[in-house]
Amino acid sequence: MNRIVVVSNRVQAPQEGTVQAGGLAVALDGVMAKRGGLWFGWSGQIADSASRTVHTTQVGSIRYATIDLTREEHDRYYNDFSNGTLWPLLHSMPDSMAFDRRAAQVYRDVNQRMTEALLPLLRPTDLIWVHDYHLTAMPAMLRARGVTAPIGFFLHIPFPAPDLLCSVPQASALIRDLLGADLIGLQTPNDVENFVAAAQRLTGATRLPGSSEVQFAGRRIRVSAFPVEIDAAEFAAAAEAAWRSPATERLRRSLTGQALILGIDRLDPTKGLPQRLTGYRRLLETRSDYRRRVTFLQIAAESRKEVSAYRELREALNFEAGAINSEWGEPDWTPLRIVARGGARNTVAGYMREARVGLVTPLRDGMNLVAKEYVAAQDPQDPGVLVLSRFAGASHQLPAALLVNPHDPDDIADALDRALSMSLAERQGRWLECWRTLENATPAAWGRAFLSALTRADIAAPLAETRERLFIPRPAPEQGMRLI
Ligand code: G6P
Repeated sequence: MNRIVVVSNRVQAPQEGTVQAGGLAVALDGVMAKRGGLWFGWSGQIADSASRTVHTTQVGSIRYATIDLTREEHDRYYNDFSNGTLWPLLHSMPDSMAFDRRAAQVYRDVNQRMTEALLPLLRPTDLIWVHDYHLTAMPAMLRARGVTAPIGFFLHIPFPAPDLLCSVPQASALIRDLLGADLIGLQTPNDVENFVAAAQRLTGATRLPGSSEVQFAGRRIRVSAFPVEIDAAEFAAAAEAAWRSPATERLRRSLTGQALILGIDRLDPTKGLPQRLTGYRRLLETRSDYRRRVTFLQIAAESRKEVSAYRELREALNFEAGAINSEWGEPDWTPLRIVARGGARNTVAGYMREARVGLVTPLRDGMNLVAKEYVAAQDPQDPGVLVLSRFAGASHQLPAALLVNPHDPDDIADALDRALSMSLAERQGRWLECWRTLENATPAAWGRAFLSALTRADIAAPLAETRERLFIPRPAPEQGMRLI
């Protein structure tokens, strides 16, 4: 079996057993734990100066290889360009996007540095799998350095319509860089259509009739949807156990019989948190019978604090939460609890099982694994109801959830009302439909599907033949770097 080489900005530290920061880590952890291989990326450390040192450590079947970034690199590549430009843009929020040419250049420099550090670690028969918006330039950079092994790229976040994408200068370069891969994976068919349309419009790539393959610069590139999955059976078992844990027991006691509405998110402008709070406020305003009968717990885990939009969002949310509680609260009832710390995955699983409503209303989301976890966590005999944004990738797979437009607070309030008053039979029916979509999926199977498509992408150049052709020496952009 060919070794897989995963490349991602954040490399999952092996010893951490707590809740992962976002979908990528959750998904990849499952794949790498089963399959092994090399996992390469940023160490999470800031160094005083740019160094070529690659830190490696072997844990079980996974070899981790990481490099440090300088403060300047981290600020411009991660904070400014990845999270200040690409993140809002790819989430179809160009108004929140800030663009700075110097940051764009440092982003490319870091992608190049990652490429150079990875090259000596590669073997001729590797399957290379690059992840997410931090590393969009790497497929083309690896190709330019002579790598002919199959390269796959997976985007964990949404891909916008071509018109929106054009808000960023160099939109066509972004697509051309990605087209250095043999296989481009996205979360939903909608993302695939947007990507192919942008490739046609901005790079002149042609779509092969009747397929989602495009032809560009004499190569064929497959573009497909691979929706990220969770291990639903494992999560269900964890939730069942956690529901009896002291942490969930304490939460349950604190509710004194009120129905729990639960939101769990990274604190992020794409998650629609202000709109969600307004939706809840609207419920309390318009349906007085819910007052004192519900509690909304929003876990909004601190994230990307160095980016100003995230700090401002924290302040705005705290302000609005205070307003809701002072306006609607009673001396013995707090309508809204907001918590800035994420919890351990198992603890949170127990909360999910306890919650009568899972409220997941991002303005736009690649997939949203919390939605899937909420379904998996439910008691099949007495399940809660998932209220889900129609703009989350998960809504394509979970149409039996109550789908809402997250921009419309009345739609959120109506769905909360419907969820809280839903009959047991309807709850069971909707839950079962959602569960059937998830029950047999696993992150490992998701990874296998992508990797087997990537292996097939190499049919034109069988692996045995690529051994000699893997590295075609090209002038190195940095002095002193060496190809194997
Ligand atoms: C999303 C992205 C991931 C990212 C995660 C957490 O899920 O797709 O690439 O790792 O958010 O964000 P952070 O900036 O903390 O890595």
